[in-house]
Amino acid sequence: MATISTAVFKENLFNGKVLFCTGGGSGICKAMTEAVMRHGANAFIIGRKLDRLAKSAAELSNATGRQCGYAAADVRNPVLIKEAVEKCVAQFGRIDFVICGAAGNFLTTIDAMSENAFRTVLEIDTIGTFITIKATLPHVRATRGSYILMSAILYDRGLAYQAHAAAAKAGVDALGRVVAVEEGPRGVRCNSIAPGPIRDTEGFDRLTVGTPEDVDNSAKSRVPLQRYGAVADIANCGVFLFSDAANWITGQLIAVDGGELHTNMGMVPNYPANVLEPATMASVIKGKL
Ligand code: COA
Repeated sequence: MATISTAVFKENLFNGKVLFCTGGGSGICKAMTEAVMRHGANAFIIGRKLDRLAKSAAELSNATGRQCGYAAADVRNPVLIKEAVEKCVAQFGRIDFVICGAAGNFLTTIDAMSENAFRTVLEIDTIGTFITIKATLPHVRATRGSYILMSAILYDRGLAYQAHAAAAKAGVDALGRVVAVEEGPRGVRCNSIAPGPIRDTEGFDRLTVGTPEDVDNSAKSRVPLQRYGAVADIANCGVFLFSDAANWITGQLIAVDGGELHTNMGMVPNYPANVLEPATMASVIKGKL
C-alpha cells in the first residue's frame, strides 16, 4: 500500500506556506492536505459538514504538528466561500496553494437522470471550482502560488452512467487551462489531477459495482500497474505539483491512475447489456443509494 512520502522532498519544503482546500474534510483531499502539512504548510479545509471538518482538522494537526483551520461552506455559495477565504487569511495571513476538490457523483444513465441531478453536479464540480478560484485568486496572485483542480478520467471515451460528472470535469479541466494561460504571466500555475480508482474513498464506494471479489479481481484487468490506488498516491502527486520541482508545469491534466486511462476501463460491467437493459444495473446501483 502506498504511503504519504516524506522521503522524496525535504520535510520543510512548504514551511511558511498556506493551503486552502475544498473537500479537505475527507478522502483524497484530506490526504492531500496531510501531505502538504507534513512538508511544513498550515492548511484551511472547507466542507459542508462542520462536525466532520472539526474532527478532520484536529486529526490533521495532530498528525503533522501544523495548524489546520476550517469553515463549513458549500462551494456552490460564493458568499460562504469568500467568507471562508477571509477566515483563512485572517488566521494564516496568506494563501499559496489551493486544491479545488469538492465534488459530487453517483451512477445513473441520462435516461434516468433529472435535469436537476445533472445541474447539481455541474454546480458543485464546475461552478464550485470557478467560485473557489475567483475567491482565492487575489491571494494566490500575491504569493505567486499554485492551483490543483481535481478532475476525473471520464470524458475522453464516453463513460456510461457518468454524463453529469463527465461534462462537469471536462469543464473543470477547460477552466484550469484558461487559468494557466491568464495567470501564468503573474507567476500563478494551475494543473488538474485525475485520480484513477482509489480504494477506501466515498467515490470508490459510490462508483464501483459488483461483488467484493469482482471488484478485487477487476483491478488486475483494469489497471496496468495491477492495483487500485491509495489516497497517498494522489497526495504525493499533489506535493510534487505544488513544489518548485514542477515550476514549469502548468495547464496540465495528470492522470494518477496506474495507467488505467490506457485500458478500456471496465467500470460498467456486462457492457452493453447493462446499458441496453439498465434494470440489471439499476438493481445493483439501488443497493448503494
Ligand atoms: N441517482 C439519480 N439522481 C440522483 C441521485 C442518484 N443516485 N442522487 C441525487 N440525485 C438527484 C436528486 O434526485 C435531485 O434531483 P431532483 O430534484 O430532480 O429529484 C438532484 O440529484 C440533487 O440531489 P440533492 O440530494 O438535492 O443534492 P445535494 O446538493 O443535497 O447533494 C449530490 C449533491 C447529489 C452530489 C450528493 O450525492 C452528495 O452530496 N454527494 C456527496 C459528495 C459525493 O458525491 N462524493 C463522491 C465524489 S466521487
